Amino acid sequence: MKSCVRHLNHRRALLYLFSSILIFCALIRYVTITNDNNIIKSRQIRRQTDTRWRLTEQHGINCVDIYNMDPVALGKSLELRRKAPPIPADKSVVNATLDCGQFLASRGYNVRISEQERDFPLAFSLVVHKDAHMVERLLHAIYAPHNIYCIHYDLKSSSDFTEAIRGLARCLPNVFVASRLEAVQYGGISRLRADLNCLSDLLSSEIRWRYAINLCGQDFPLRSNAELVSELKALKGTNMLETIRPSKLKQQRYTNHFDLKDEQSQYRAFPVKTAQKKQPPPHDIEIFVGSAYFVLSREFVTFVHWSPQVKDFLAWCEDTYSPDEHFWASLIRVPGVPGEIKRSDPDISDLMSRTRLVKWQYLEEKLYPKCTGVHVHSVCIYGAAELRWLLNDGHWFGNKFDLKVDPVVIECLERNLTERHGAKVTPQ
Ligand SMILES: *[C@@H]1O[C@H](CO)[C@@H](O)[C@H](O)[C@H]1NC(C)=O
Ligand SMILES: *[C@@H]1O[C@H](CO)[C@@H](O)[C@H](O)[C@H]1NC(C)=O
Repeated sequence: MKSCVRHLNHRRALLYLFSSILIFCALIRYVTITNDNNIIKSRQIRRQTDTRWRLTEQHGINCVDIYNMDPVALGKSLELRRKAPPIPADKSVVNATLDCGQFLASRGYNVRISEQERDFPLAFSLVVHKDAHMVERLLHAIYAPHNIYCIHYDLKSSSDFTEAIRGLARCLPNVFVASRLEAVQYGGISRLRADLNCLSDLLSSEIRWRYAINLCGQDFPLRSNAELVSELKALKGTNMLETIRPSKLKQQRYTNHFDLKDEQSQYRAFPVKTAQKKQPPPHDIEIFVGSAYFVLSREFVTFVHWSPQVKDFLAWCEDTYSPDEHFWASLIRVPGVPGEIKRSDPDISDLMSRTRLVKWQYLEEKLYPKCTGVHVHSVCIYGAAELRWLLNDGHWFGNKFDLKVDPVVIECLERNLTERHGAKVTPQ
């Protein structure tokens, strides 16, 4: 009897254990289903409000076909271009950022990053003045939660635009508006100051970023954040920018004093050459020319920020033409600077420095295929048939893109980057 009772107890215990396991399994299943539902739900929310891929989806354009230069897909993209679909107004970004929770969830800012990325934060300086919707898409394409982003908007920008940018900065904790803003004048020193303002703010950020990259509103990335990080690590502390010996023509930009002329209005000021000769640059700085765009190490940016020589050089640059195009290119050649490029070293052209892929009309069909978008001031605004070339050329960013010229190339780049990013990050 005793043994029987013991036996019964045993069976009861077993039964109890068994049912506990069953309940436990059911619970786990329930939790996973709910999670799946949540993921599906968040995807549905994203579908409704995320308009990024709307045009290619609506018009049945497959980005893989565009990448493969399929004539039918390219034909569809041309047809879409002719229809000139309307571009969301700046107000729509103002609207979208009124509810930050909804904005972040619907636009998919919750990206996962790898450990390598986390250990190598980047800083961005975005100098923008119009098309808030496109700025948001650029920001989204380069966004990672551990990076830091400074946006400089133009003092001349519309109030809707500035409100939209402030909305973005309010919703994203690692995005801020530059503490000092300039009225950016074409060819003037204000363009350079806009970046310097951002860099100085970025240096005082708590985030110990390793490299700073500057972008404008018509740039778009051709590499994911993870890919950028591995390319930047390979630079081993050196900088990447264009720096070439100036032609006779370019020398005129700084041998004479330039005056900012405001013929029509103060907003249209333009530097005009005068007969007044300029002194040579201070501290024996030798002038090299390049572009306004850079990839700079934290050490180099720190040097630029604190050096009294740089301060003098900046003051000397004040009345030169388009100083942003010789400031960085010359400083990187100053002996002893962090990541110095020796003055005797060969020129580094825009095709060797992989920071920015720009297609100049006069070099088309010599150095690269013909522009399939349109030209503005001899620079190509890319079209869909350039997607493959853009992605395979090896540059990190492309310039220029415009939704009014071709929305398909932008949507397909976004798709490619998102898919590549998704493939890189293994789910936790
Ligand atoms: C902004 O939101 C309001 C209310 O949700 C809506 O009525 C309005 O059309 C929106 N404006 C734009 C430009 O999206
Ligand atoms: C994205 O671009 C890469 C080349 O950089 C290419 O190999 C890949 O197939 C593209 N993916 C899609 C989905 O278009």
